[in-house]
Amino acid sequence: MEFDLNKIKKSAQEAIEELASPEKLEEIKIKFLGRKSELTELLRSLKDLSIEERRKLGPKLQELKKELERSFDKRLKDLRISHSTLRERIDVTKPGHKITSGHIHPLSKIEEEIEQIFLSMNFSVVEGPEVEDEYHNFDALNIPKDHPAREMWDTFWLRQNEIKNQKSKIKNPEKLLLRTHTSPMQIRYMEKNNPPFQIIVPGRVFRYEATDASHEINFYQVEGLMVGKDMSLANFKFVVEEFFKKFFGSQKIEFRFRPSYFPFVEPGVEVDIKLGKSGKWLEVMGAGMVHRKVFDAVGYNPNDVTGFAFGLGLERLAMIKYKIPDIRLFYSGDLRFIKQF
Ligand code: PHE
Repeated sequence: MEFDLNKIKKSAQEAIEELASPEKLEEIKIKFLGRKSELTELLRSLKDLSIEERRKLGPKLQELKKELERSFDKRLKDLRISHSTLRERIDVTKPGHKITSGHIHPLSKIEEEIEQIFLSMNFSVVEGPEVEDEYHNFDALNIPKDHPAREMWDTFWLRQNEIKNQKSKIKNPEKLLLRTHTSPMQIRYMEKNNPPFQIIVPGRVFRYEATDASHEINFYQVEGLMVGKDMSLANFKFVVEEFFKKFFGSQKIEFRFRPSYFPFVEPGVEVDIKLGKSGKWLEVMGAGMVHRKVFDAVGYNPNDVTGFAFGLGLERLAMIKYKIPDIRLFYSGDLRFIKQF
């Protein structure tokens, strides 16, 4: 039988020295001392040798086995100790790093609150497209092309790519824009649904105007629309007062309804609120009874149905509730602002 005990010993000991992790060391231990190792094979084959040879070789093999086991155990112990001293070098008296967690944006939070309140009053939440056509954003809402009222909404028009209908070769007459309010969703919803219903439409709107502390080129609105039979401004007043009372919680709140003008309502009103004792009047929403022309546009019979609509600005409500001085803070991406909510 050909073998070299010294060679086995040498290569095992070299491997032991090289290893730096206890896990790797266990692997190597299996390689040199495991059931399939050269040494174990040799020990197993002793039974095929003559008594004389066995006497000579047996003790040597046993001795080598013990020696390697000792080396492994010692190295393992050393490594474990050095690992734990490494760990102990961490200074546990040092202040730790604060774990930073993500934040819900204050506008998302407010939107969620508003939705919950209206859901509790049996309203449904629906959404519409941010890219609109002129018809839904203006015409169907009784804002004709050359009517001065259109100036109320500074509009971002989208460049037209002469979208052609391949078959008829007729240019698509639709002019596209970024919706200037959430009111076009009134039209879209009524085109597809029949009264009675009550919905709110939260969403982003765009205005082509200079920014300042109270104006942004994009902001969020929540549209409301309730249509049925024999609805009146009294119904509107109840729903809106109920909403604001819930939204501002325990604060004392007063309401004022002022006549106003929007082409898609008649009569039109503006709602002001006053919070607490010394507060001043703040304008919070435009509203009114849905105009007959709007019902006409969606194919409802204006003699059969009535309804009210309102639109409020999400940032404005958030600014009032949390005393935020500048609308631009919502879009600044400044974490010092966001983290307060
Ligand atoms: N869409 C109007 C605006 O953006 C608000 C409004 C909505 C007014 C519904 C009346 C009814 O100014």
